[in-house]
Amino acid sequence: MLSYRHQFHAGGPADVLKHSILTLLILALTRKDKPLFVLDTHGGAGLYDLNDARANKTKEWSAGIGRIWGEPNIPESLSHYVDTVSSFNQSDLRWYPGSPLLIRKLLRPQDRLAVAELNKQDQSQLKANLSMAHKTEIIAGNGFHAVKAKLPPIEKRGLIFIDASFDQPDEFQRILQAVKNALRRFRTGTIAVWRPILDDDAMDAFDAGFIALSPPETIKLGLKLHKSYKPKRAQGSDLVIINPPYQLIENAEPMIGWLWEKLNQNSEGGPIKEMLVSE
Ligand SMILES: C[S@@+](CC[C@H](N)C(=O)[O-])C[C@H]1O[C@@H](n2cnc3c(N)ncnc32)[C@H](O)[C@@H]1O
Repeated sequence: MLSYRHQFHAGGPADVLKHSILTLLILALTRKDKPLFVLDTHGGAGLYDLNDARANKTKEWSAGIGRIWGEPNIPESLSHYVDTVSSFNQSDLRWYPGSPLLIRKLLRPQDRLAVAELNKQDQSQLKANLSMAHKTEIIAGNGFHAVKAKLPPIEKRGLIFIDASFDQPDEFQRILQAVKNALRRFRTGTIAVWRPILDDDAMDAFDAGFIALSPPETIKLGLKLHKSYKPKRAQGSDLVIINPPYQLIENAEPMIGWLWEKLNQNSEGGPIKEMLVSE
């Protein structure tokens, strides 16, 4: 039974981290003219109204994109993400693009996108939101299965973005199995996995699971925003990135430092930049 609905969380601190890094990834991977394939395994609805009752119930967006919107002196590496969000809005912030719309906006005509989503309501919104999109396939089904079905891509260049909802007890294992499947089929692809930061023991075990897959170069970029005294409550989030594009860390560093300054609570935590597996 799926309980997670992204409408409550759109534009929150986790979205800001994942989407700003996703933007850097797409920009880096579209520097070469050759076509790129992107698989977004957990797409959500695609576009979120921040005036919606669900967004207003949690107000997560006001602790995320709301703290950045209209800020002067945004670092250049973050400005591409902010500009993309702005392109869905007039002067006021109301609409927040989820990963599929953000990705499609940044891709070029020669690039191809496949997006999976399991929730029926989100599937129909996603279809409506991407109805005019070029070279875009919506998979009404399980994104973990799509990893097997869609890889390797004919383009031979690709990004697999795994943004699971962490509402299943075995989600860590399912993600690691999907990464294993992706590496087996397409070892040269870039894989980005979003994760909530839970307690140290849980994260150490999750990291060890990645390392045990013997992946190529693997890094972690993230934001720890506060301490949590409750087990299972996220303290921030990170992205594990396998085969990061050239200079991703250098480009992301000023961005995540600036974001931590804007989004942290009580000066706790800090930006995360770590090599999990070196080349
Ligand atoms: C965190 S949200 C995705 C947000 C989206 N990636 C974004 O950045 O805007 C996770 C989504 O995955 C969907 N979902 C859960 N399990 C799934 C699965 N096995 N395959 C595909 N979608 C799934 C949920 O319905 C939810 O919409």
